[in-house]
Amino acid sequence: MPSNHIAMNNRRSFFKQMIGVGAFGSFSMFSETLAAEELIETIDHLKSLPIEDAIQNEDFWKKIQQAYAVSKSYLNLNNGGVSPQPTIVLEAQRKYLEQINEMPSLYLGRIFPRNRFILREKLAKLGGCLPQEIALMQNTTEGMNTVMLGMNWKAGDEVIVSKQDYSTVKVGWEQLEKRYQIKIIWVNLPAPIENDEAILEIYLSKITKKTKFINLTQVINWTGQIIPVGVIAKICRKAREKGIFTLVDGAHSLAHIDFKISDLECDAYATSLHKWLCAPIGTGMLYVRQDKIASVWSMYPSDLLQESMIEKFEHKGTISLAREEATHTAIQFHQHIGIKLKEARLRYLKNYWAEELEGYQNVRFYTSFKDRYAGGIALFGTTDRAISSVSLELERKYRIHHTRTNLEGIEGIRISPNIYTSLADLDRFLEGVTTLLK
Ligand SMILES: Cc1ncc(COP(=O)(O)O)c(C=O)c1O
Repeated sequence: MPSNHIAMNNRRSFFKQMIGVGAFGSFSMFSETLAAEELIETIDHLKSLPIEDAIQNEDFWKKIQQAYAVSKSYLNLNNGGVSPQPTIVLEAQRKYLEQINEMPSLYLGRIFPRNRFILREKLAKLGGCLPQEIALMQNTTEGMNTVMLGMNWKAGDEVIVSKQDYSTVKVGWEQLEKRYQIKIIWVNLPAPIENDEAILEIYLSKITKKTKFINLTQVINWTGQIIPVGVIAKICRKAREKGIFTLVDGAHSLAHIDFKISDLECDAYATSLHKWLCAPIGTGMLYVRQDKIASVWSMYPSDLLQESMIEKFEHKGTISLAREEATHTAIQFHQHIGIKLKEARLRYLKNYWAEELEGYQNVRFYTSFKDRYAGGIALFGTTDRAISSVSLELERKYRIHHTRTNLEGIEGIRISPNIYTSLADLDRFLEGVTTLLK
């Protein structure tokens, strides 16, 4: 068979799977956005270009934008918080919900649970680990707390936590401190930090005989700072030698930057799929290294599951599986674009607006401009006025949605575009913010 015929067949089968023809027999979900064939051709064309050209081809990214139905009047530059789903994912979720409603106990009890095995396999492939190490969660919070609350704590145990870790993760540690009299050993990372050895030193210098646990964040939400994979791996290796458990908060890393969970060498890793994977809201996953599963208690016990099975972490009674089902579609959408192209486009968008703003004397960046230490998220502050007034006006007058950060003396505006964000959108943001900064 000629190779272009194979390619065409592959495309068609992807197209069919992507829109769920088998399950629904309908193409209607594309009627108001972009024809599926055209979307696939757009992505294929982008992938055929050298990556430097592909990330700059605005005509093609405009078509990707049409795969999402997002507000045009209010510009969303807080995709790090939670991302919109492509229309095909949203539609898939709606159809699965309708299907479940036809006979809930059949779909939730028998039919859809079988697909969880397939989903774990796909997520394992995406994340770079084994399917037996993946538990399906609703978000990062659930994954992190499953591990934090699942340890056998005793008074005096030390846990290394960073001031730059996520707010409610820190609150979780503070609660454990009160409940079990463990001791939090805080570390403080400069913003930005662009030196691997310095990061290593900050963490490793805090290890004592009492250290039981190290909490790490791979992409810091406040600033977009990336802790490089190799640095995390060195910390985790050292910790393992000393019998210390390592947990990585990967809320912003999966489907944003190209890496493998196994390369982190951590004991556990939690992420949200509704951020950079653009999966249904309320989806996440927890990785626990195979030889550590038995040592972590599950949040909700089940007599059907053995303590060494990853599925023990998933048991939560009755939940809707429509979100998980539609996650298959989100994975396909993401994988068709590919992580290398997506990461490069996200970083290109960040550099586009940040390099322009960096030229302003009253602007200060808290995010690195080096690829190793930042992806698509960046934080800037002002040196001559309160950032809060700029932030309020950006939302109120210019209708630009973003996040405001205030942490450890750093106040700033965090901007996180997504693959549906165009350069025209960023020009709109730049026009608004530079007018306000005058
Ligand atoms: C670093 C980090 N960890 C955890 C979370 C919590 O994520 P979720 O609300 O999806 O559980 C977030 C949310 O933004 C985050 O940025």
